[in-house]
Amino acid sequence: MLKEFDIELYEAIEKEKNRQVTHLELIASENYVSDHVLTVTGSILTNKYAEGYPGRRYYGGCENVDEIEDLARARLKKLYGASYVNVQPHSGSQANMAAYRALLKNGDKVMGLALDHGGHLTHGHSLSFSGIDYDFHSYYVDKETEMINYDELEELAKKIKPKLIVTGASAYPRSIDFKRFNQIARSVGAYLMVDMAHIAGVVAAGLHQNPIPYADIVTSTTHKTLRGPRGGIILTNNEDIAKTIDRVVFPGIQGGPLMHIIAGKAVAFKEALEEDFITYQKQVVTNAKLLADELQKRGFYVVTGGTDTHMVLLNVKKTHGFTGKVAEVVLGEANITCNKNTVPYDTEKPLLASGIRLGTPAITTRGFKEKEIIEVAELIARVLNNINNKEVILEVKERVEALTKPFPLFQLQKD
Ligand SMILES: Cc1ncc(COP(=O)(O)O)c(C=O)c1O
Repeated sequence: MLKEFDIELYEAIEKEKNRQVTHLELIASENYVSDHVLTVTGSILTNKYAEGYPGRRYYGGCENVDEIEDLARARLKKLYGASYVNVQPHSGSQANMAAYRALLKNGDKVMGLALDHGGHLTHGHSLSFSGIDYDFHSYYVDKETEMINYDELEELAKKIKPKLIVTGASAYPRSIDFKRFNQIARSVGAYLMVDMAHIAGVVAAGLHQNPIPYADIVTSTTHKTLRGPRGGIILTNNEDIAKTIDRVVFPGIQGGPLMHIIAGKAVAFKEALEEDFITYQKQVVTNAKLLADELQKRGFYVVTGGTDTHMVLLNVKKTHGFTGKVAEVVLGEANITCNKNTVPYDTEKPLLASGIRLGTPAITTRGFKEKEIIEVAELIARVLNNINNKEVILEVKERVEALTKPFPLFQLQKD
């Protein structure tokens, strides 16, 4: 029907569908949602206005969406063992904005991991609302280990005396010790916020320390390892903070909640509560560790020497002499999708960067296991060792097609 009404849009979507099916998706923050999540996010729930919260709405006719939001909230609480949750943030950035507004006044001091060391824009970048509204002070990973040095962090926190310490990252492949973060925050009288956006699925499966017992507020996206629709969530065990968060999200920074997305979140949380999800996340981490090992064997520099999560960061400048941007473009020519990324103590600008970030959530959803991962490592090496050889790139592109074909996606559209 869309084809007849809007051919341009239809064709653009078809091309994107084809790209998602035929390319090797290695962007660490992406995933393929289930057919159920797809159905629900494209449902009639998009029609409904529901400002407020279940039982306390500013619109009539909310009895069904109340049920949906309550389902999402109950499942999310169960998934992480949290007492209070808010499922309305439209994105991870919105969730972080709400968390800061709940704990801070403009100008308050905050500590966050520097962007070029793995932090996110909303952890204090000067162009983000976070860096504009609050007095952010960056902390950095250790130059040798490329990991967080907790003793140095403690020293820095004593000097800065922040009101809030933020942890969680966009490009940090190692596990984070939330318990230690809590001790450091408490020792300087600061709140602790954990942004678990990247590792939310790994945490849900019990394969990474759960931040809920240690953080005053936990925020996350729902669309990365957690494999739900695009969106944000906020969790806490503190009743007073929970009340403030609800006020800050609505009416503070948002209007009507996206009920189709909240329903999609409810489906994703149900999926994440199932046994299969643990098996999936175990495979995600196994695949990432293997990818790191196999790339190391092929002469690549893996930042921090490995991974504990779904993510592998390579410093290609160090081993191959070209930037992450060049690597991203050439891999793209072979239908291998990833993103350039700064590495700790990078001398390149973020738009060029010395590294690339790879992730296994999407290819694992596809069904890739150890055998396929070894081939993925080999294909990456073939391309990056031969960036000017068009024949090799074409040959890899064909191998990518052969590798992805036995793992079809989007069953729903085919039916
Ligand atoms: C750690 C972290 N926090 C927050 C976000 C922001 O999420 P969104 O893009 O939904 O605003 C991201 C997204 O990449 C992230 O990696």
